[in-house]
Amino acid sequence: MRLEKYIATSGIASRRAVKKSILAGAVTVNGEFVLVPGHPIDTETDVVEFEGKRVEPLIEHIYLMLNKPAGYVTTRHDERGRLTVMDLVSDLPDTIYPVGRLDLETEGLLLFTNDGNFAYRLLHPSHEIEKTYLVWVKGVPRDDAVQRLRQGVTIPSGKTASAKVKRLKVSKDDVSTKFEVVIHEGKKRQVRLMFKAVGYSVIRLKRVQIGSLRLGNLPSGEHRFLTPAEISELMSL
Ligand code: URA
Repeated sequence: MRLEKYIATSGIASRRAVKKSILAGAVTVNGEFVLVPGHPIDTETDVVEFEGKRVEPLIEHIYLMLNKPAGYVTTRHDERGRLTVMDLVSDLPDTIYPVGRLDLETEGLLLFTNDGNFAYRLLHPSHEIEKTYLVWVKGVPRDDAVQRLRQGVTIPSGKTASAKVKRLKVSKDDVSTKFEVVIHEGKKRQVRLMFKAVGYSVIRLKRVQIGSLRLGNLPSGEHRFLTPAEISELMSL
């Protein structure tokens, strides 16, 4: 976050007044004078002092879920100018960021926060949080292929751990099959590569649950704030 914004967010003074004070030499960052209002601040670790007093910004923590549509990149900025998930939450403070990622063509439950501790806990591999996906696959995978998926298969980034794989429905004329897959890892393109490893291609992929948090009937492209109970449940995983 920019230094002037960081200080203004603490309520000390307006952004304009803060900028003047920075230019006048009233501000230190980690004990060093900084005269540049746009100086980048790491909100988790930097110590900022304004006229000798420690500044603690009143950053409200935000937690929300988005039902990500296909065609949006999970990043804060895309160098290639493509649509990003940030375009779908542009009415919210720009301090939020996506927790983890879904592929460009993957849909469904994506969390956002500005709480680094929350993001860290959810993403840390040691927590092994279960993620549930609906997967539409071309054709009708054989039972032995499905069994291999359950036990773990080899994909370019390594061997996948055991997974829960449930066949939900075969479409008319055996064109496609819908599965529910639960994994507790986050290897790159994991679900797509798991099916590829047993000879089948994924035609649609949607994440519907993280831990006990369900996407429910949130419409595609819409977001909603998490409830305090949902936040504490995820924090305790
Ligand atoms: N697995 C994938 O293949 N893609 C995703 O976006 C998430 C899980």
